[in-house]
Amino acid sequence: MPTFELSSVSPAEVAADLLILPVFQDRAPGPGVAEVQQRLGADLVATLAEHRVTGKLGDVIVMPTLGRLKSKNIMVVGLGPKAGADAGAVRRAAMKAGRAATKFASVATTLAQVGSDAEESAHALAEGLTLGAYRFDRYKERPIDEGSKDKSRLKRVLVLASGPGLKSSLRRGQVYADAGNWARDLVNTPALDAPPSFLAGEAEKMAQANGLRCKIWTKAELKRGGFGGILGVGSGSANDPRLIELSYSADGSGQPIAITGKGVTFDSGGLSLKDATQMEWMKADMGGAAATIAAMRAIAQLKPKVNVIAAIPSSENMPGGAAIRPGDVLRHRGGKTSEVLNTDAEGRLILADALAYLSEKKPRVIIDSATLTGAAMVALGTDVYAIIGSDQSLVDDLLEAGRAEGEPGWQLPLWTDYRRNIESTVADVKNTGGRWGGAINAGLFLKEFVGDTPWAHLDVAGTAFQETPTDVWPKGATGSPARTLIRYVETQAARGRGKGRNRS
Ligand code: BES
Ligand code: ZN
Ligand code: MN
Repeated sequence: MPTFELSSVSPAEVAADLLILPVFQDRAPGPGVAEVQQRLGADLVATLAEHRVTGKLGDVIVMPTLGRLKSKNIMVVGLGPKAGADAGAVRRAAMKAGRAATKFASVATTLAQVGSDAEESAHALAEGLTLGAYRFDRYKERPIDEGSKDKSRLKRVLVLASGPGLKSSLRRGQVYADAGNWARDLVNTPALDAPPSFLAGEAEKMAQANGLRCKIWTKAELKRGGFGGILGVGSGSANDPRLIELSYSADGSGQPIAITGKGVTFDSGGLSLKDATQMEWMKADMGGAAATIAAMRAIAQLKPKVNVIAAIPSSENMPGGAAIRPGDVLRHRGGKTSEVLNTDAEGRLILADALAYLSEKKPRVIIDSATLTGAAMVALGTDVYAIIGSDQSLVDDLLEAGRAEGEPGWQLPLWTDYRRNIESTVADVKNTGGRWGGAINAGLFLKEFVGDTPWAHLDVAGTAFQETPTDVWPKGATGSPARTLIRYVETQAARGRGKGRNRS
């Protein structure tokens, strides 16, 4: 992970392995370009034209300075149209630049000078570069990019900008990105090495290092506590399930924000077995859990003035001899029962227990994140996650947090008439609702377990993992929606929502 430092040195004078300079659409020069052109005695913009770099968002070109500048190389990154270039553009450009910058140890950039909100831009710069430089090469003998193993070589970033608050903005951006990258590591780790006990162990170590309270529920404790969903889903696996409980306390009195996430460490489908292709990425079925645990880490480091609790269920969904069968009925925490018609609709079964447990704590709101349905992915693709909730202002706040972090979501309706789809003849509810509106049916199932607590559900099946990399996502785990959760919590704290018992 690179470290960030502010500097007021001119880009023409700064000595770095790589100097990153922004240009806007139609080759309009960004901050620092004029000084550097003058020092080089060369027309940088004309050179871009020769290379057909127009300044489109995400355009990147690297060129050596051949001794004509103190910095050894220049990277020009496109920011898109000058008028719309805000912190969001800075983040995207920084991600793209970060990915290409890992060959260089020291980097300097004027990128944080773009945009109308200097603090947001600094945050986005640190976040984007750190996320962009992410590599997962722990399992490779020879690391990617000839960097030291498991790390890119990008070590030091000089941020050429000045202003009050920028130092803490850089730090916040880095904390957000470190959390996102840690979630990526957890998700990318193969299921062979990452059963529920591993996830619990990582959470426990993190809690210890960051001053969070942590309790890991073992299988025996889950039995005594009546967590039939977590146990049922885990019963076909040789790896026992866990419930991971974390709490951050800002002050004793305020009602906490409660978060949870689906932690299915591998989803084979169980006896309702998936086919081979559908199983390829199912180590990522704990993406919601990873993002939630990582968000707790960032919260512990940023110390917002609002209490936050998390209870993350983790099971491995396998078709072993003790596996649950279609037709089985499970009794969840709190007493409600569900009829399991498809063992591949397992996420909602483990979340039901966690939601019921969290609602006992009388939180202000409950937010769950889950790689829950292929239907959400069919509806919204791989860039945008689905949000469904029982409280419109909570949904709006999450949509806003996601937008601010470059992790966009889109709302689907909690269409209560579809409750008929999950009506069971033998239990309180059944775990599948037919082919149509699958993401909504899943949401309606979850809602059964939150009582009257305001609740929202993020279905990140499409965004948690990418088969094809994009400008903003690497191939593999993305860490989505960790940054959304962190931003939501920080915003609530800033609005003074941490105190008292008022839910609205
Ligand atoms: N983990 C899957 C959902 C999923 C699918 C995530 C593709 C990421 C990519 C989930 O457990 C599942 O299998 N859902 C089923 C539910 C159905 C059986 C009601 C689905 O979406 O097909
Ligand atoms: Zn699943
Ligand atoms: Mn499944």
